[in-house]
Amino acid sequence: MINLIWAMDQNWLIGKDNELPWHYKKDLAYFKDKTKGQPVLMGDMTYDSLKSYYKDRPLPFGQLYIASISNRQFDDAIKVNDIDTFLENYQGDLFVIGGKTIYRLSLPYADRLYITFIDASHEGNVYFPPFDLSAYKLIQENQVDVLRFCVYEKVKA
Ligand SMILES: NC(=O)c1ccc[n+]([C@@H]2O[C@H](COP(=O)([O-])OP(=O)(O)OC[C@H]3O[C@@H](n4cnc5c(N)ncnc54)[C@H](OP(=O)(O)O)[C@@H]3O)[C@@H](O)[C@H]2O)c1
Repeated sequence: MINLIWAMDQNWLIGKDNELPWHYKKDLAYFKDKTKGQPVLMGDMTYDSLKSYYKDRPLPFGQLYIASISNRQFDDAIKVNDIDTFLENYQGDLFVIGGKTIYRLSLPYADRLYITFIDASHEGNVYFPPFDLSAYKLIQENQVDVLRFCVYEKVKA
């Protein structure tokens, strides 16, 4: 199953330069709980952002897959340069953890969306790509302060 997980504000903002525009402890805890030890796919910008946060500590996921079309190599990850072929053939559970470019490329393959809606407006410059959320069915919803943790499943055609 291909899962996408992200947090966005009222304007679908997800980033400020190469960082998160906010710091919500409860959302970080939710993200950690869902992705701990899980195979994850991310873009190389998100990888750099997480690496600078974790410094010398290993990232807390299972197998890392990093999307990149450059010559860059990663000593702790498998590089993915053809996302379509990778996702078409992927077996088992995978969490796609960003960023914008990789969410956009992965959305057509998403079975499940873990969206944290932040009922507030923040400053930043990276937005989630527009898409039709009505193609998904809301299966879980939990409001905690300004955070609304929602899980959606793709409606089978
Ligand atoms: N709010 C959230 O939940 C959340 C979560 C994660 C990230 N973010 C935010 O998202 C932003 C980063 O997003 P981003 O779009 O700049 O970076 P990104 O999606 O993390 O990485 C983009 C990289 O993907 C590679 N790429 C591009 N097209 C590709 C393709 N067709 N196949 C394989 N690889 C490809 C390129 O790497 P090469 O140049 O090496 O080829 C490109 O630099 C940051 O602001 C971050 O904080 C927010």
